Amino acid sequence: MWQRWFNKNNYAQSEPDTAGLVIDPVKIPAHVAIIMDGNGRWAKAKGMPRVFGHRAGVETLREIVKTASQIGVKVLTAYAFSTENWKRPADEVAFLMNLLAEYLDSEIEELNQNQVKLRFIGDTEQLAPALKAKIAETTRLTAQNSGLILNLAVNYGGRAELVRAFRLMADKISNGALTAAEITEDVVNAHLYTADLPDPDLLIRPSGDLRLSNYLLWQVAYTEFWFTNVNWPDFKPHHFIEAIYEYQQRERRFGGLKK
Ligand code: IPE
Ligand code: IPE
Ligand code: MG
Repeated sequence: MWQRWFNKNNYAQSEPDTAGLVIDPVKIPAHVAIIMDGNGRWAKAKGMPRVFGHRAGVETLREIVKTASQIGVKVLTAYAFSTENWKRPADEVAFLMNLLAEYLDSEIEELNQNQVKLRFIGDTEQLAPALKAKIAETTRLTAQNSGLILNLAVNYGGRAELVRAFRLMADKISNGALTAAEITEDVVNAHLYTADLPDPDLLIRPSGDLRLSNYLLWQVAYTEFWFTNVNWPDFKPHHFIEAIYEYQQRERRFGGLKK
């Protein structure tokens, strides 16, 4: 049945685990944002070091990228490292940076096979030169792919993104390329990392924390939120399907009235 809905399915091996839910193939959210949270608590509950959870979280990302591709999501934006995560112990930060480098090395082939286009949002300029180079390389190597856009938020903060946009606009005003009166919502949007992407339709946060943690502050103005207590390493394709199913039951009004 799944295959009939999505015959352009590149991940041909298996049907996603839908937990018995039937989602509407014409109402798939174009852009899903995920806060990959709860890795540390997951590991702690198993008596393991936090980094064990981060490693397990990479497996979840792999699975969810696959599911999102299969059902026809266009953009998946995953929060991997925030501008505030530098406050963590240096060894955890180093582990996360290495894990990202490893992920890029190990995934490139499968991403290409599955037509996934890898992109990044956030201040990646501040990362170590070797990681920056890998980011540039994987972005380049997947740029021609025509499937899901996997947008990784690395050294990303919503406020930092807005400050960057204000500076870019201020620079344009100083050199005469823009006037204050010309600044509209569309112009602000055009100066964000996500300039060419639609706003997220759905935001998923696992782990039980009910907050945004500086994620996509501008872009989530009318996004539907979905929370679960499950930690990211335990988050399965059927949770993703459940989130989409619930999203499809909601009525989005964007400030207008019920149809
Ligand atoms: C999310 O899991 C991963 C990153 C923030 C990099 P956490 O590391 O925040 O795990 P918890 O929230 O402490 O359980
Ligand atoms: C948000 O989670 C950042 C990522 C998942 C990458 P945090 O774990 O950093 O958020 P807080 O500190 O609990 O709000
Ligand atoms: Mg956390």
